Amino acid sequence: MRLIIVSNRLPITIDRSNKSGFKRSIGGLVTGILSYINKIKSGVSEFEDYLWIGWAGKSIIESEQEAIKREYKENYKYVPIFLDEKVQKGFYEEYCNKVIWPLFHYFQDFADYKKSSWDCYKQANVIFYNTIKEQIKKDDFIWIHDYHLMLLPQMIRNDFPNVKISFFLHIPFPSYDIFRLLPLENQQAILNGLLGADVIGVHTIDYAQEFQKTISKVLNFKAVQNIINLGDRFSKIDIFPMGIDYKAIKEISISEACSQKKKITKERLKNYKIILSVDRLDYTKGIINRLEAYYNLLLEYPEWIEKVILKLVIAPSRREIDSYKKVKRAIDECVGKINGRFSSDNWIPVEYQYSQLNLVELCALYGISDVGLVTPLRDGMNLMAKEFIAANSPDQGVLILSETAGAVNELFDAISINPFSVDEITSAIHKALTMSKKEIQLRNERMHLRLSSYDVSSWANEIIQTTQEVNSSKVSLL
Ligand code: G6P
Repeated sequence: MRLIIVSNRLPITIDRSNKSGFKRSIGGLVTGILSYINKIKSGVSEFEDYLWIGWAGKSIIESEQEAIKREYKENYKYVPIFLDEKVQKGFYEEYCNKVIWPLFHYFQDFADYKKSSWDCYKQANVIFYNTIKEQIKKDDFIWIHDYHLMLLPQMIRNDFPNVKISFFLHIPFPSYDIFRLLPLENQQAILNGLLGADVIGVHTIDYAQEFQKTISKVLNFKAVQNIINLGDRFSKIDIFPMGIDYKAIKEISISEACSQKKKITKERLKNYKIILSVDRLDYTKGIINRLEAYYNLLLEYPEWIEKVILKLVIAPSRREIDSYKKVKRAIDECVGKINGRFSSDNWIPVEYQYSQLNLVELCALYGISDVGLVTPLRDGMNLMAKEFIAANSPDQGVLILSETAGAVNELFDAISINPFSVDEITSAIHKALTMSKKEIQLRNERMHLRLSSYDVSSWANEIIQTTQEVNSSKVSLL
């Protein structure tokens, strides 16, 4: 059986400013699925083969498209989608990232709806569909990812009634009161689009419940035990909290390259406790509140002055969008404020890196940090929190985690905070910095157990198995 993965972005997209002409994509989706592909490659999956269909990340003139297609096919099993500039802007920048992304993360004030961008969203989904149609073979299993492609399941279903389709939403599914802010035509099309899948997977029980409530309000479909009866077939809404490749993170963490990096940084920062903050640049990540909390820590607990360092790593993202440019400026100012106020001859309180790190570099940072500060205002899951725990031994690293991140449902031994409360984050940092080894060990052991027993393969296998079962005669559905 072959797995066809469909996501907006391919794991490697075109970047002319880079020597190779390509750059690695970032985010939980790509990280997670690439780990699963490694399992397929090493033969420990039920799939014999795979194909990944996604956007090449840039609009490319027609005469160059064939060569790029060949390059993707020969070096990877990727099939690129090309979108012209107008569609790309209306679809990706506007509808996906200025409507769905802010709404689904409860930033309704950031949403900027235009009818033209909705038209581009529909058009882009059709373009994806046309490429998929050319690729589908009998017995393929189609796995569609994320909010960019919510119309796609139904488009495929219309022409391929028996193909197995799974859809996974990597971001939160919001409450009905937020979802209903979309025009009714959009609401209906999105929900009907998703129901084309055999399984609609989300990270948490809250997202699943909101989805069911919304389906019932907008389409008047009632789910019975998570299953919606669509007359000729069923669609199941289910919860699959995305895992990490625990074993691979462990292996990378003890590798020679990583150990070397840890040694060098640890030596340089040996006099300090290290607080780590790593994110893709996004206003949903709560970076400003986190910085304010650190500022307050140095004010309220002056004993930490010259004893602690905040390593702030931010991966550039969605640079073309104004709200992202704005949050970048606000972060720069905030870092300037802290360093301006507290720096001395031999100490800078925030070490700030605006770049994309690879997994070895990340694991090295996780491994030397005393505190992992993960305080998104809203986050579908947050794999950084999981990686931070996995990369350390159980007696090392205290995780501070937002109660509004999907990951908190599994990592309930972290210090959980309300990310809107700067005071709570400040107290949590102090608590983490002073936590006894015994307590750290106790909390982390339980999290290690969870992460090692339910990893990215368990996550993917469960989704695949559930998708196989829905609509198969093996399972009695109602
Ligand atoms: C989040 C989304 C992904 C997306 C990633 C990076 O993790 O869930 O779908 O790929 O962000 O964002 P970008 O807009 O650069 O693809």
